[in-house]
Amino acid sequence: MKPSVFLLTATLVLASVAQAHAQTPAQAPDAVLGKRMWIQCRACHAAKPGEPPKAGPSLHGIFGAKAGTKTSFAYSPALKASGIVWTDRTMDDFIASPAKAVKGNRMGYAGMPNARNRAALIAFMKAETQ
Ligand code: HEC
Repeated sequence: MKPSVFLLTATLVLASVAQAHAQTPAQAPDAVLGKRMWIQCRACHAAKPGEPPKAGPSLHGIFGAKAGTKTSFAYSPALKASGIVWTDRTMDDFIASPAKAVKGNRMGYAGMPNARNRAALIAFMKAETQ
């Protein structure tokens, strides 16, 4: 290969690599993380209408909803009486430590201590539960 051809080829390769990076959305790594975190929840929670019932209530349309109000699920008195409305903030508190956030609730999940994991999960859930 002539040096000028080599240089041209190298420049084109570098340019296409740079472009590929520029096109990757900034959110991509956290979207992957959020999806990975959701694996812990989807064992017990459906997210889409028509999904078969699982051990926990379906989380379809959960953001903006009042806690413990799906008619298709028999909630604990504790969750029903919690008065929680599900927002990023309340979801974050609950996932961090369900037992602390709502004493006496029946969700069999110990909690997700890592704040970055929770933020990624909540972003993923917002799309997944629509
Ligand atoms: C072992 C099964 C199980 C796992 C795992 C689990 N949940 Fe739950 N979840 C439940 C049950 C059961 C309830 C109802 C609790 C009650 O009535 O006290 C619940 C309730 C909830 C509620 C309240 C729903 C409503 O209608 O108000 C939210 C939100 C929720 N879970 C989110 C999650 C998220 C997010 C994860 C993953 C980090 C998760 N859950 C993991 C079983 C589970």
